[in-house]
Amino acid sequence: PRDIDGDLTEILISEEQIHSRLAEMSRQIEADYAGKDLLLVGVLKGAVMVMADLARELHHPITMDWMAVSSYGSGTTSSGVVRILKDLDTDLTGRHVLIVEDIIDSGLTLSWLIANLNSRGPASVEICALLRKPDAARVEIDVKYAGFDIPNQFVVGYGLDYDEKYRNLRSVGVLAPHVYSSTSV
Ligand code: PRP
Ligand code: MN
Ligand code: MG
Repeated sequence: PRDIDGDLTEILISEEQIHSRLAEMSRQIEADYAGKDLLLVGVLKGAVMVMADLARELHHPITMDWMAVSSYGSGTTSSGVVRILKDLDTDLTGRHVLIVEDIIDSGLTLSWLIANLNSRGPASVEICALLRKPDAARVEIDVKYAGFDIPNQFVVGYGLDYDEKYRNLRSVGVLAPHVYSSTSV
């Protein structure tokens, strides 16, 4: 185990579980987009790991692009107002777009993003998210490809961060309260 494993109270989803679920989701995506070009849009930075693994699991021609977005204002809860820090390089006109996310928490980021991308004239916009927290949802999001529903706990790893750390963990774990409640770190 690595040093940072002491910062987790439990492993919620193992590396093996993530990869077998991504394989199942990939088979579904391949079937649904048969004969169609597919543009994967990853939302930086959390989606980096799921994008890398999903894209390599897909036996389907894809292109990849990235957006970086940020909620206005401070505080721990998302305001739902989003600004674009890095926009797509790709013209979405007539394209089949699949947004790739690590987690849907309140749903506010994705809700805004779906509307934004839909305004650009795509053929379709769908969502693929590895994790979803049903108990934290503030808006209803129609997620076509959802990996795991998880409890409303502070999770990190596989792209998910706390204070930009833990993104490189291979599994998804629950962050120990002493990590984020401490004021002396
Ligand atoms: C996290 C996560 C999702 C979003 C979900 O990103 O990666 O993108 O929050 O939250 P919501 O459903 O409540 O809108 P974050 O803003 O922390 O940026 P990051 O991906 O760079 O970590
Ligand atoms: Mn994110
Ligand atoms: Mg984050």
